[in-house]
Amino acid sequence: MSTSAHATPVKTIAVLGAGTMGSGIALTAAQAGIAAIQVDPSAAQLEKAKAYHAKTLARAVEKGKMQQADADAALKRICYVGSMAEAKGADWAVEAATENVEVKKKIFKEMQATFPAHAVLATNTSSISITDLASAVGADAHRVIGMHFFNPVPIMALVEVIKGLATSDETTQRTIDLAIAMGKTPVPANDRAGFVSNRVLMPMINEAFHAWMEGVAKPEDIDQIMKLGCNFPMGPLRLADFIGLDVCHDIMMVLYRELGDQKFFPCPLLRQLVQAGRLGDKSGRGVFEYGKK
Ligand code: CAA
Repeated sequence: MSTSAHATPVKTIAVLGAGTMGSGIALTAAQAGIAAIQVDPSAAQLEKAKAYHAKTLARAVEKGKMQQADADAALKRICYVGSMAEAKGADWAVEAATENVEVKKKIFKEMQATFPAHAVLATNTSSISITDLASAVGADAHRVIGMHFFNPVPIMALVEVIKGLATSDETTQRTIDLAIAMGKTPVPANDRAGFVSNRVLMPMINEAFHAWMEGVAKPEDIDQIMKLGCNFPMGPLRLADFIGLDVCHDIMMVLYRELGDQKFFPCPLLRQLVQAGRLGDKSGRGVFEYGKK
């Protein structure tokens, strides 16, 4: 399938958004020898991403997992800019902005106007329809694809590859090639709400909130049961804090709206914690407490 003139290895990726996922994607690309342009309008967010990159690479050197020269080279491959226009030379763009359809569609229009015609326009969305996002770029829908990474990006092996209705085979093959070049294992999924990962994961997390709400067990015991009994690295409630309770809630709402089944409706306790601003790790408190942030 890789027959196009553009089926050459990706040299530069523009990563739109410097939050947890975006900064992880940029670092993973840089560690794989690909130049990464980290784009975010927030200077504070860019500083945070920069600090995360430096700290993660320094830790790898400390642990003897990486040579200092390789860490320095990886860091040099990342540049940090405030606008998409400054990344216009990239031959790949992956959007990792907030999970909001309208925000993402606006970004896709800007991506279409900014990047060269051969560039793939990928999204790291965790649940929004690829076909819907692609509708924002009209005739360019064939180069829009879902490239769903997992947190923490440098550690997690999977990239869920989601083809929208108009995504071309060439775009799909190039995405698979890039995921492999980044050291990941690409696995295809179809464009239905939540794809496979969140269609399965989020209802499990939501059910853990129901079990807590009904007093089946204390949150720490729910997690311990799932860790020791099912070999999960984190229990579902700890994982919900790690992902962000707001993110879990929003994904459940997408599943509920798109699939129309009551079973996807967010647990009232999950909704309440989000309303209270208890969002998990990022706010210092969610199901569990993590100290001041
Ligand atoms: N960035 C880079 N490296 C990280 C990291 C990060 N944010 N967090 C941890 N690591 C590294 C550590 O440095 C450590 O590396 P070494 O093996 O070289 O020492 C390694 O990961 C293990 O970390 P720790 O020893 O600190 O902790 P741990 O063994 O408990 O592992 C974990 C931490 C990898 C996060 C593990 O608990 C885990 O796999 N949890 C489940 C995560 C998960 O399910 N993620 C998917 C969430 S869903 C999603 O992302 C998609 C969505 O759409 C919502």
